[in-house]
Amino acid sequence: MKLVFLGPPGAGKGTIAALAREHYRIPHISTGELFRAHIKGHTPLGLEVEAILGRGDLVPDDITVEMVRTRLCEADARSGFILDGFPRTIAQADALDQMVRLDKVVNFVLDEEVIIARLSGRRVCPVTGKIYHLTNNPPKIDGVDDETGEPLIQRDDDRPEAIHNRLEVYQRQTFPLIEYYRTRSLVVDIDASPTPPEVFASLEVVLGR
Ligand code: AP5
Ligand code: MG
Repeated sequence: MKLVFLGPPGAGKGTIAALAREHYRIPHISTGELFRAHIKGHTPLGLEVEAILGRGDLVPDDITVEMVRTRLCEADARSGFILDGFPRTIAQADALDQMVRLDKVVNFVLDEEVIIARLSGRRVCPVTGKIYHLTNNPPKIDGVDDETGEPLIQRDDDRPEAIHNRLEVYQRQTFPLIEYYRTRSLVVDIDASPTPPEVFASLEVVLGR
């Protein structure tokens, strides 16, 4: 199954992709995670994109497309994948169109007020990338990852100014993709407001078990 997870920042794409990856046994490819791994590893690409991510702007299309092209050539992505956070512009969608034939585009729908609450309360494990929320999904012990015991961190782009910018960038550059994929009859809308198991259950309904 070749899937794209589309939707505003904080809608729960990464959270639901973590469940879907296990269930459907396909890799979860998050461009945001790939960039953050480069930043953490101090690679040349990481140095180039660090400030862009911190502000909540988009990395240029050519860089992003080449990173995804390389990742999709890996053996585990041949029979299926979840692309989370890519494409984010029409140019990226056109490039993806040349690479693969998608089965579905899952559009996560959520009100802005809830998005802001989710992003402001998000905490992540710097080692495993596991996603928590201060109130919706807290760790067993305050402030540390359940498995590794690492102190949880807040993403740089979950500061208020960056959240605001990311929402604007989403509206301007990514929202038009819903229509782009609707005209190709690929979009399924998912209400992202219930709990993660409930959101995942509606995903199973639209994708099949
Ligand atoms: P990326 O990492 O993709 O960030 P994003 O799209 O802004 O999405 P998020 O990861 O913030 O949200 P999410 O939908 O995954 O929500 P999550 O599951 O974490 O991109 C980061 C940056 O990288 C971009 O700004 C850009 O700079 C760059 N980039 C990435 N892709 C690019 C591209 N294609 N082109 C150019 N640049 C690119 O959940 C959020 C919170 O809510 C968590 O705390 C979670 O616990 C909680 N939560 C989740 N689901 C629920 C639920 N159902 N109920 C209650 N709480 C929930
Ligand atoms: Mg994410």
